[in-house]
Amino acid sequence: MDAAELPYYAPVGREVALFEHAFRNRLPLLLKGPTGCGKTRFVSHMAARLGRPLYTVSCHDDLTAADLTGRYLLKGGDTVWVDGPLTRAVREGAVCYLDEVVEARKDVTVVLHPLTDDRRLLPLERTGELLEAPDGFMLVVSYNPGYQNILKSLKPSTRQRFLAIEFDFPEPEAETAIVARESGLERDRVAPLVRLGNALRALKGQDLEEGVSTRLLVYCATLIRDGMAREDAVTAAMIEPLTDDPEVKRALLRAVELTLS
Ligand SMILES: Nc1ncnc2c1ncn2[C@@H]1O[C@H](COP(=O)(O)OP(=O)(O)O)[C@@H](O)[C@H]1O
Ligand SMILES: [Mg+2]
Repeated sequence: MDAAELPYYAPVGREVALFEHAFRNRLPLLLKGPTGCGKTRFVSHMAARLGRPLYTVSCHDDLTAADLTGRYLLKGGDTVWVDGPLTRAVREGAVCYLDEVVEARKDVTVVLHPLTDDRRLLPLERTGELLEAPDGFMLVVSYNPGYQNILKSLKPSTRQRFLAIEFDFPEPEAETAIVARESGLERDRVAPLVRLGNALRALKGQDLEEGVSTRLLVYCATLIRDGMAREDAVTAAMIEPLTDDPEVKRALLRAVELTLS
């Protein structure tokens, strides 16, 4: 694929090289980092760059191993086996990306473990198949350590099977370029929004669980580019999504006044 046709991703460190090394050496990769910092975009970029199809699964607390591997379904009186996304990725030699993997049910780790050791096997008990992952297959998972939920952190026996890399929000200059490119708003109008985003991120911990994401900055800039007044766009994209607490909101609005006036 032409560089121009790849999903746009601006590297923030050496993550592109790490992904390529992991792929070449058939090693699974764990992406850690806050919501909206570019993890999903990075994976789509890398899959396209390596010329592999991509299967993305957003994990949730009802997601079972069978949702990933497949199940027998009734089709006009017959029962037919239908591959799940993980099985399809293994058969095709694709990248399989499990977003927020800690959300998934415990039995999911049972299918991931044999795939992440050097045999790279996917046993399908229901069909009696034992699939060996081809070279083109790569398992990528993400999780957000920021939620600090003891019940929902990755077990050491699982996480120690992955190479891992920590993602964070890009430096202001890089983030300005990303937001400008994604929204179409001029850089000099994006720069103050990024400054504000960083001021709001500084409030994380005391007042906020999560800071403004790059995604929200893109939303904000998109609204402004579309003609919305800046303060309305800021409220809709950078204040209201972060909190419901009136007092925290006031603190955020103070930061807005200080940064944007
Ligand atoms: N490094 C980056 N390069 C290009 N776009 C980015 C980058 N980081 C964030 N973005 C923008 O932020 C949005 C959210 O990123 P996403 O990959 O969905 O976040 P995550 O998966 O970490 O929650 C993307 O749709 C893209 O517009
Ligand atoms: Mg994502």
